[in-house]
Amino acid sequence: MKAAITATAKYLPPNILSNHDLELMLETNDEWIRSRTGISERRILNDLEKPTSYMCGEVARQLLEKRQIDATEIELIIVATMTPDMLFPSTACFTQKIIGASNAWAFDINAACSGFLYALNVASSFIESGAHKKVMVIGADKMSSVIDYTDRSTAILFGDGAGGVILEPAKEEGYGILDTRLYADGTNGTDHLLMLAGGSRNPASHETVDKKMHAIRQDGRQVFKAAVMAMAEVAGEIMSRNNLTADDVDYLVPHQANQRIINATAERMGVDEKKVVSNVALYGNTTAGTIPICLAELDESGKLHTGSNLVLVSFGAGYTWGGIYIKWQ
Ligand code: UT7
Repeated sequence: MKAAITATAKYLPPNILSNHDLELMLETNDEWIRSRTGISERRILNDLEKPTSYMCGEVARQLLEKRQIDATEIELIIVATMTPDMLFPSTACFTQKIIGASNAWAFDINAACSGFLYALNVASSFIESGAHKKVMVIGADKMSSVIDYTDRSTAILFGDGAGGVILEPAKEEGYGILDTRLYADGTNGTDHLLMLAGGSRNPASHETVDKKMHAIRQDGRQVFKAAVMAMAEVAGEIMSRNNLTADDVDYLVPHQANQRIINATAERMGVDEKKVVSNVALYGNTTAGTIPICLAELDESGKLHTGSNLVLVSFGAGYTWGGIYIKWQ
C-alpha cells in the first residue's frame, strides 16, 4: 500500500522582514529584489531562544490536533533541515521531546532545499514496507541563523519557516505518493552553495567567525542555471513516467527559491500559471520548509480534492533535486 498525507500544517514566525527593511540595512532596493526574485518579504524568528525545533514543535502540535491523534501514536519523526538546533542531538529528537512522542524513533535528514522531498520518500518507504502506520515528516529551517546580513546576495533571499505532514497507509490503491525521482550531484554541486565552517572540516574558531564562514555562500548565477535545468527535467520525467499531461496536473508545488525559477519550470512543463503554487513573495526561501508550507496552504484553501494530481519539485545545495507525484486521497 502506498503512503498518503493525512494532515498538513505550517508555522511562520510573525515577525516580517520586508524589502524596505533590507533597504535600510544593505545596498539594495525593493524593485531589484522583486524583479529578480519575486520576493517582497520574509519571516524571521528573531528570538535567539527559539531554534528550529521550536517551529517543528508548532507544526507537530497542529498536525496531531488536525489528525486528532495523540503524540504517542507517532512511530517515527523525520525532520528535514540544514539549520538544526545543534549538530547533535537531532532536531527530530528535540521535536519528539516537545510533543512527547515517546513511542517514536527520530532522526534528521539534510538535503538542503530538497530535504522535504528526500524525507517524504524515506518516510513513505517505511509505510509501504508495512513497518509503520503513522510517520511525521517536517521540513524546517531557521535560515536567519546562517545569514550574513551584510551580504546582499544572500540576505534578501531567505526566511524562516516550517511545514509538515502526517503520512499513513493510503485508504485505497491508486492514491497517495505514487512516484518519486530523487537525485544528487556532489561532483558539480558542492562548491556553489555551502556553509564553510561549523563542521569537521572547519571547526568553529575565532578565524572562522572573523571570516564569516558560518554564513551561507552562494554562486547565485550557477545555482540559478542548474536549478532551472534540473527542476524542469525532473518535473518532465515525473509527468512522462506517470502519463500525465499538463492538463492532468492540478497543482505544481515547486521549491520556492525564486519566482523566475518557478515560472521557468512551469513553462517547460506547459502547466498553466493558475496551477502553480507560489508564496515566495511572502516568505522568501525557507529551504526545507517551502514545499510543506505550500502543501499546508493548498490544503487549508480547500482546493485539494480526492484525485487531485500534485507534482512536487525541488532543487538545492549538494546539488540535490527531485520530484514526487501525489494523487491526493
Ligand atoms: O534554494 C536553493 C537554491 N538557490 C537558488 O535557487 C538561488 C538561485 N539564484 C538566484 O535566484 C539568482 O541568481 C539571484 C537572485 C541570487 C541573483 O539574481 P541574478 O539575476 O542571477 O543576479 P546576479 O547575481 O547576476 O547579479 C546581477 C547584478 C550584479 O551587479 P553587476 O555585477 O551586474 O554590476 C550584482 O552585484 O545585481 C547585483 N546584485 C544586487 N543588486 C541589488 C546582487 N544582489 C543584489 C541585491 N540588490 N540584493
